[in-house]
Amino acid sequence: MYNEEVIKEFQNLQNVGVVENYNAYGKIGNAACGDIMEMTMYINPETEIIEQVGFRTFGCAAAQATSSRATTLVKGKTVQEALALSNKAVVDSLGGLPAQKMHCSVLAEEAIKACVENYLDRKAGKITDSNEPTKMV
Ligand code: FES
Repeated sequence: MYNEEVIKEFQNLQNVGVVENYNAYGKIGNAACGDIMEMTMYINPETEIIEQVGFRTFGCAAAQATSSRATTLVKGKTVQEALALSNKAVVDSLGGLPAQKMHCSVLAEEAIKACVENYLDRKAGKITDSNEPTKMV
């Protein structure tokens, strides 16, 4: 069902966990299956480069592999570059996913967007630690 690249990524997940001293947070639920993904980042406020990123998911193998790959693709990038990352680009970098698993890759894209938006809202003073948003897709 999965190609070799996806299996390799799944067996060697990158950036699992929570970033210490994170300043960006996103939590996304996948309405299609009920799985959840949480992402944290440390974004350098001077350069707006994503220096650290971590994810945790209650998701399937496809969700884990795409989340892992997505974190490696946004690490070291600016927030604007991260916002432009699509789930299709992540899936393409893994050589594709079975059609019925494509929805799983949306978790990573949406979590990155939620995380960056959280950072931008926090920077604008709209969010405090006590009112972190959650979002369903
Ligand atoms: Fe839920 Fe894949 S089946 S994320």
